[in-house]
Amino acid sequence: MLNWDEFHEDEQSVTEPAAKAAPAPAAKPQPAVADAVAESRGSYRVAEAERLARARKSLEQLDVAAGLEELEMGAARIQVDDKQMINARADLNQLVPFKYEWAWQKYLDGSANHWMPQEVNMTADIALWKSQDGLTADERRIVERSLGYFSTADSLVANNLVLALYRLITNPECRQYLLRQAFEEAIHTHAYQYCVESLGMDEGEVFNMYREVPSVAAKSAWSLKHTQSLARPDFQTGTPETDQELLRNLVAFYCVTEGIFFYCGFSQILSMGRRNKMTGVAEQFQYILRDESMHLNFGVDMINQIKIENPHLWTPEFQDEVTQMILEGTELEIAYARDTMPRGVLGMNAAIMEEYLHFICNRRLAQIGLKEQFPGARNPFPWMSEIIDLRKEKNFFETRVTEYQVGGALSWD
Ligand SMILES: [Fe+2]
Ligand SMILES: [Fe+2]
Repeated sequence: MLNWDEFHEDEQSVTEPAAKAAPAPAAKPQPAVADAVAESRGSYRVAEAERLARARKSLEQLDVAAGLEELEMGAARIQVDDKQMINARADLNQLVPFKYEWAWQKYLDGSANHWMPQEVNMTADIALWKSQDGLTADERRIVERSLGYFSTADSLVANNLVLALYRLITNPECRQYLLRQAFEEAIHTHAYQYCVESLGMDEGEVFNMYREVPSVAAKSAWSLKHTQSLARPDFQTGTPETDQELLRNLVAFYCVTEGIFFYCGFSQILSMGRRNKMTGVAEQFQYILRDESMHLNFGVDMINQIKIENPHLWTPEFQDEVTQMILEGTELEIAYARDTMPRGVLGMNAAIMEEYLHFICNRRLAQIGLKEQFPGARNPFPWMSEIIDLRKEKNFFETRVTEYQVGGALSWD
């Protein structure tokens, strides 16, 4: 099998002996002019003259005019009012002046909350997972299904960001957050992989669950469908139809995938942690949930800003369609709840989860200005809101301060 790692040693064995073989200055006869120059440069060797001449020749042929056209040399400096969420004509290489302070603030908040999966102690989880009677069969099923869904779901989100969405959001401060979010999704996938590896689970089984277990596959397929049209190389926004297609993608990923599909699994695992079981896995999920709630809020801000700038897109028919999408997502998550909880477990069951998901569905609709579809649905898990709204409390497992920061002050408003 070809693998770059296998060539590393060869590469070193080629360069190192060559360096050693260079004659020591003392052993040289009277130095020539070229040697003296090399010595004055710290004894490194300059590129071959012929190669350097080719590079310079190539630069002479550089089509500067075309390059300048690309950069719009001489164009007026960009003004805040030139900036727009989509279809902007302003230079996208200039971060400032800021127009959307909320986007920049989320970039700062996300960066202040950096964490890595290896910082979480998994020792107790490994012992519990390997013991014969540590967890019930129903509890084990929840851990397996959660890792099965999430281990690929965050890759779906990351791929959507990088391969479909990024180029269509025409605002530098939003792109700055999208880059931060993409890295956080990589950390999340890493966290799930780290849990699977620590527990010694069957990686092939876990990572293939998104296409082998129906309740998991249905959610993944629903999300993937919304990446496909935007990921086409010829897809461009700029017409009401294509701009609405972009909005569908935002609703599908931020409101539904990150805003609904994550909530049954998160509440199950966090409920397990509250019962002092699988506390390392639960701690990983807790940090991920905190990141995800910021992703969701960022997506909601983007959708609402696009609505303000393009009110013609938010037609009654389109509002109806978006409401439908959010209901579809809720139904899929309820089906997942039933599959993962055939009986009551961890103080919850599928019926209680259904009310929780109706409550979540109402929240998602209201956040983008749509009518609640389950008026009166209550939140049976108020502790979930407390975890999402973490401020100064220590985490409930008492293992470390939850509000981990790499510096600067954190505001969760
Ligand atoms: Fe994520
Ligand atoms: Fe996310």
